[in-house]
Amino acid sequence: MKAAVLDKFGPSTVMEVCDVPKPAINADQVLVEVIAAGVNPIDWKIREGWMSERFGSDFPMILGFDASGIVAEVGANVDGFQPGDHVFARSNVGAGGCYAEYAAINADTVAAKPDQLNDDEAAAMPLAALTALNGLREVGRLQPEQRVLINGAVGGVGVYAIQIAKNMGAHVTGVCSTHNLPLARELGADQVIDYKAQNPLATGETWDVIYDTVGYLKHSEARECLTPDGVYITLVPVEGIEFFIPGQTEIKPRGGYFLVWAPTAADLEILAGWVRQGKLHSVIDSIYPLELIRDAHERSQTERARGKIVLRIKD
Ligand SMILES: NC(=O)c1ccc[n+]([C@@H]2O[C@H](COP(=O)([O-])OP(=O)(O)OC[C@H]3O[C@@H](n4cnc5c(N)ncnc54)[C@H](OP(=O)(O)O)[C@@H]3O)[C@@H](O)[C@H]2O)c1
Repeated sequence: MKAAVLDKFGPSTVMEVCDVPKPAINADQVLVEVIAAGVNPIDWKIREGWMSERFGSDFPMILGFDASGIVAEVGANVDGFQPGDHVFARSNVGAGGCYAEYAAINADTVAAKPDQLNDDEAAAMPLAALTALNGLREVGRLQPEQRVLINGAVGGVGVYAIQIAKNMGAHVTGVCSTHNLPLARELGADQVIDYKAQNPLATGETWDVIYDTVGYLKHSEARECLTPDGVYITLVPVEGIEFFIPGQTEIKPRGGYFLVWAPTAADLEILAGWVRQGKLHSVIDSIYPLELIRDAHERSQTERARGKIVLRIKD
C-alpha cells in the first residue's frame, strides 16, 4: 500500500510517499481502507521530534490520527463492525498510522460515519472535535447559560469548540483575527473579539471557562478574567498550569490545566449524534492529495488554518 512514511525526525521533506506492507490487525482492531485522513499540528510536532518521549521513535513511522474510510477486515474480538462499513476514527495506535491506504485502528476508537459528512469532513473531525468536547466537558464542566471564551476560535479545535459549547447551552465569546470574525459568528459565537485590535483579557468581562486552544494567553492574566469557580484550559503546556489527568475529579477554582484525554467510540457517537441533528459540522481549510503531504504540513505550520486540513488518500 502507499503511505507517507518518515525514517527520521526533521522538516516536512523527511516524509516520503512510498509502498509499504499493509498493517496486520490484532484481535481488537479493524483494518480501515482510508479515504481521507485529518492533519493536526501534533503530526508535525511528532515529525520534528518534539514528542518522542510520548510517541517513541520507531521508524519507519506513519503519522495521522484521524481517518474516514471503509472497514476492510475485523479482528476476532470485535463486535459491531463488518467489512464494508463506512466509519470515521481517532486512531490511538503508535503515531496514528492514518496517512496510508490502510490503517489498523483499535475498534474502541471507531464509529459509523454519519451520512451528513463526506469523507473529508468526517476525517477532519475526530481528534479536534474530541479535544473540544473533552476540554469543555471534563475540565471546563461547562453548564448551560455559563460564559466561555474560546481563543483560536476558527482553528482546527476552535471551529468545533464554538459549536459544541453552543450545543451545551453556553454563551460563547470567540477570539480570532479580523478577517476570521464573520466565520466565528457563523459558527455560533454570540460575541467576537478581534485580538489584533483588543486584548481579550482587558475588556473588563469575566468568563466561567477560558479555553485557549492555541496557547497564546497567560494563565496569570486569564485567571483575573475568570469567575470565582472558573477554569482556564490550554492545549499547549504554558507557564503556571497543571496537567489534567483523565478521571481527575478535583478542579481548583481559577486553576489552569493542560488537557490530557483518551479518545473513545462513545464520544465519537456523541459527535455523530450532533452531526445527524445538524448541530455540528466541519470547516475545511484545505484538502491535499497524499503526494502533497509535505505541503499539508507546511500549511498547518503557518498556524493560520481556518478549520481543518485534510489529506485525500483515495478518490
Ligand atoms: N492537548 C491536546 O490534547 C491537544 C489536542 C489538539 C490540539 N492540541 C494543540 O492545540 C493547538 C491548536 O490546535 P489546532 O488544530 O486548533 O491548530 P490550528 O488549526 O493550526 O490553529 C490555527 C488557528 O490559530 C489561530 N491563531 C494563531 N495565532 C493566534 C494568536 N496569537 N491568538 C489567537 N489565535 C491565534 C489562527 O487564527 P487567526 O488566523 O485568526 O489568528 C488559526 O485559526 C496546537 O498547538 C495543537 O498541537 C493539543
